[in-house]
Amino acid sequence: MTETATVPAALSQPVGPGEPLFDLRDVAYTYSSRQVALDGVNLRIWRGERVVLLGANGSGKSTLLRLLDGIVGPTGGSIRALGLDVAAVAAGEDGFRFHREVGLVFQDPDIQLFSATVLDDVAFGPLQLGLTKEEVRERCDEALGEMGIAHLADRAPFELSGGEKKRAAIASVLSLRPEVVLLDEPTASLDPRTKWVLVDLIQRLGAAGRTLIVATHELDIVPLIADRVVVLSEGGRVVADGAPGTILADRELLIRANLIHEHLHEHGAVAHSHPHEPSDGHHSGQPEPTKASAG
Ligand SMILES: Nc1ncnc2c1ncn2[C@@H]1O[C@H](COP(=O)(O)OP(=O)(O)O)[C@@H](O)[C@H]1O
Ligand SMILES: [Mg+2]
Repeated sequence: MTETATVPAALSQPVGPGEPLFDLRDVAYTYSSRQVALDGVNLRIWRGERVVLLGANGSGKSTLLRLLDGIVGPTGGSIRALGLDVAAVAAGEDGFRFHREVGLVFQDPDIQLFSATVLDDVAFGPLQLGLTKEEVRERCDEALGEMGIAHLADRAPFELSGGEKKRAAIASVLSLRPEVVLLDEPTASLDPRTKWVLVDLIQRLGAAGRTLIVATHELDIVPLIADRVVVLSEGGRVVADGAPGTILADRELLIRANLIHEHLHEHGAVAHSHPHEPSDGHHSGQPEPTKASAG
């Protein structure tokens, strides 16, 4: 079991000094149903940055991560990532090389975990690379160790807890030793202790020198995992881009972006719920008790 992971020095395409890893110019994405998800996005992300994409539900965070991961190309504008044109990557060009360097952890771990055991899922990527058995095993040990789940290697993913599944899903991406890790709502629907474990693991991923891009709408985790925050409006536009302290102190901005409600009370960076009115469905879990009307 390896304690700290090695981050690859060489990218699939050399990105020149002073060049961003991701360069988005006037990017739009419209779904076939004509649903506009992103509009006029200009964004540059540099190697080693830890960026949070902060936005309410439906603001385009997952769409933006799919674009950064080269799963789809933009419907407007252009994206260059790691020296490649993302539209070409999405069309199949250099996809293999690209996906060794950029890995996306989906919000739903059940999409990522499809094998009989956790180890099989973590080994899947390295096996695709045509590595030797020993090299595959080494990468699996490293990824499982980094997520602290070596003891879960032989378990079936479907019988794991929510937090364990998340860690397995991240390990299945880390085993490719990507330079960039994209995480979609990594702490959504986790209990507080498990959420803290995930935050700690994400901090370690960043400390190991990787570029991290994390989509979330949870304000309390932002200062812990980010050195930069990009705020998306509900119309899929970048409305702010700055240091966590500055963004989180801008109450007007957070209200406009539907990240806090004016009736929610704040304690520092942590928004604290106070049941003034029924929720508009932004929480996916249990229904609110109807008696919760005390202010
Ligand atoms: N497969 C899809 N087909 C049509 N519209 C979609 C699809 N996926 C997302 N959208 C729409 O695109 C917008 C952005 O969605 P998404 O990127 O999932 O936002 P977020 O991750 O911030 O919640 C929303 O209005 C959503 O309804
Ligand atoms: Mg999403």
